[in-house]
Amino acid sequence: MIKSNTILSILFIVVTLFSCSKQTQKVTSEIVELGAMELLLSKMTLEEKIGQMTQYNGFWDATGPVPEEGSSMEKYNDLKNGRVGSLLNVSGVDEVRKLQEIAVNETRLGIPLIFGLDVIHGHKTLAPIPLGEVASWDLEAIEKSARMAAEEASARGINWTFAPMVDITRDARWGRVMEGAGEDPFLGSLVGKARVRGFQGNDLSKNNTLAATAKHFAGYGFAESGRDYNAADVGSVTLFNTILPPFKACIDVDVATVMNSFNTLNGIPATGDTYLQRDILKGEWGFKGFVISDWGSAGEMVAHGFAKDLKDAAIIAANAGSDMDMESYAYIRHLAEAIEEGSVPIKYVDDAVIRILKIKEALGLFEDPFRYCDKERENSLPYHKDHAALVRDIAKKSIVLLKNEDALLPLKKDQKNILVIGDLAQDKNSPLGSWRIGSDDNTAISVNEGLENKSVSFSYEPGPTLISEPATFIKEVVINNEDKSGFDEAVNKAKSADVIIMVLGEHGFQSGEGRSRTELGFPGFQQQLLEAVHAVNQNIVLVVMSGRPLILNWADEHVPAILETWQLGTETGNAIADVLFGDYNPSGKLPMCFPRSVGQLPLYYNKLNTGRPGPSDMVFWSHYGDESNEPLYPFGYGLSYTKYEYSNLSVTKDGTNNILVSIDVKNVGNFEGEEVVQLYIRDVVASVARPIKELKGFEKVSINPGSVQTVKFKVTKNELGFFNTNGKFVFEAGNFEIMVGPNSVELEKKTIEL
Ligand code: BGC
Repeated sequence: MIKSNTILSILFIVVTLFSCSKQTQKVTSEIVELGAMELLLSKMTLEEKIGQMTQYNGFWDATGPVPEEGSSMEKYNDLKNGRVGSLLNVSGVDEVRKLQEIAVNETRLGIPLIFGLDVIHGHKTLAPIPLGEVASWDLEAIEKSARMAAEEASARGINWTFAPMVDITRDARWGRVMEGAGEDPFLGSLVGKARVRGFQGNDLSKNNTLAATAKHFAGYGFAESGRDYNAADVGSVTLFNTILPPFKACIDVDVATVMNSFNTLNGIPATGDTYLQRDILKGEWGFKGFVISDWGSAGEMVAHGFAKDLKDAAIIAANAGSDMDMESYAYIRHLAEAIEEGSVPIKYVDDAVIRILKIKEALGLFEDPFRYCDKERENSLPYHKDHAALVRDIAKKSIVLLKNEDALLPLKKDQKNILVIGDLAQDKNSPLGSWRIGSDDNTAISVNEGLENKSVSFSYEPGPTLISEPATFIKEVVINNEDKSGFDEAVNKAKSADVIIMVLGEHGFQSGEGRSRTELGFPGFQQQLLEAVHAVNQNIVLVVMSGRPLILNWADEHVPAILETWQLGTETGNAIADVLFGDYNPSGKLPMCFPRSVGQLPLYYNKLNTGRPGPSDMVFWSHYGDESNEPLYPFGYGLSYTKYEYSNLSVTKDGTNNILVSIDVKNVGNFEGEEVVQLYIRDVVASVARPIKELKGFEKVSINPGSVQTVKFKVTKNELGFFNTNGKFVFEAGNFEIMVGPNSVELEKKTIEL
């Protein structure tokens, strides 16, 4: 991905560095020997090098007057003096151009800036939150969604996104589960690759692509107790088999950058972890891009008790391989001194700078620093008219049908007397989720609008409001637990309705960074309202909106139909209406288990068996006295308006010990549908205890009513092997169970010996 030097970039440097032709000749031959970026490096002062390793948050409205005092003025001076390599949270062509002009025209070497932003699930047009998208199990759609995000963000001057987050997450208390791909490393790896491909396209130097970031390296998703920023403590088997594979998958498709993480992993802050960054990432895996710290994470090593002050933090981070410092000022303030006194070898600085310059080169910024500054493109946002259609498509594919007793769904469009209940049904903001920096507030199609767009006639009762103050990115959401107005009206109206669509869940700003929860039920008056409505009318379709698995035990027991709809982004209401009224037959499958109780967390399907898996009549087996071990809805689970029958599982091997699997899936219902056929393995006996099930393949197939599809898989040593305690990948011959089915529980099984 890091392109070889282009003639134009050589010329650019030559022109920038030297004006007299004698010198030019000399430089041209040096370039051939060294490479343009190496040559550029050789011309840089230490200060300029450290500048490249520094990223500032956007500090000034660049189209306005220049800062005259305070920290903004200091940063402005740094920028003019070539002491800044990158800015984040600046967007818009005018802003970007203005800042880039300073870097290119006013600094000694004219090295362009790279502009980073959290382009997480769309930009102006928002797709479903990442966890929701993964429920589609549609890698092509996921890639397209990232492509669309790149098209839109790049039109606003951005050339680098801090996505995808590829942290594996097993604990729904952690608010950032919304940003990842769920609990499974196999699925997470494929999704990570699809997202990187989508963002980066096949040529980073095009003006519609973004450099991507695999984050957060590593272990951030294993925050103890699901509390954000908390320590992670994992053994090597979990590190190598569960946490690292999605990062490696992103490296395999040339992700441009990797972001380290806030947490300590086994006592070492990730930003200061030499083993992770130098030995594994840049060493064993041969990663050629650069590592960006997370926001202030270098400086936070002081609070971790790992660095004595900011200078010490700079030394530790630079030595450990953290190439660019996001907003902790550690490098810009202290690295020069640390190098001069010999605490950080200059070769580490040179290595970091070369990595950064080469990504800038790959983005084509040396050829044209204003490549991403096309006002016309920006003005035509959303760039393609079909972006709404694209996100609607992935939104409807992301919806998971959790329950559908007596085929209550789909509803008929001429269904009489529909009552919609719930504050979230009219909400145009919450469905955008908490990562929506490039979009405008209140721009989602609400559920009510989605129904109106289908010309469905219905009446509406909001019930009590969900929040009592406007929710924002930086503040804790204030849930309304006081004002019950609207409650009785909703219950009274429910008495005479034929069908009730209840839209309940958590607010979009209740999940995301810094948004951990210990209670995973419906906040505010919602559960009470659900029970009161149910007491007068049971014909309820429950539409759940959430950024994480919620606990839905009561609803599962009492409500006939339940849809999990996450936060689906701009086209929320249209996608939900498509599914409610049968214009789309739901095909989503859960990328995380839905627990029965917070006490079960962390909860994941690919667990170890324990020595006492039970069940047993006595208490001495691995279980809870007051709750089942099993999730309410397992990983991979999701229903359809049709039914599929699985039969004829065949498991054989070929001459080179690949396992060949086939199964027939028949659509025995009345709707055409898409089914995600899932393959799991178990390595029965191994030198390291292996999980009872591991996803190792899936196919999403479309099947007409009455038709059969034969789905085939080839399972190779890559899928059958594992990393041992030393991080070595091994394949051990023996018995393997092969399981195929519609989710991680209802599986046909055969055993084969290799
Ligand atoms: C988050 C990162 C994000 C960065 C920049 C941090 O707080 O952990 O995921 O990319 O901020 O916004």
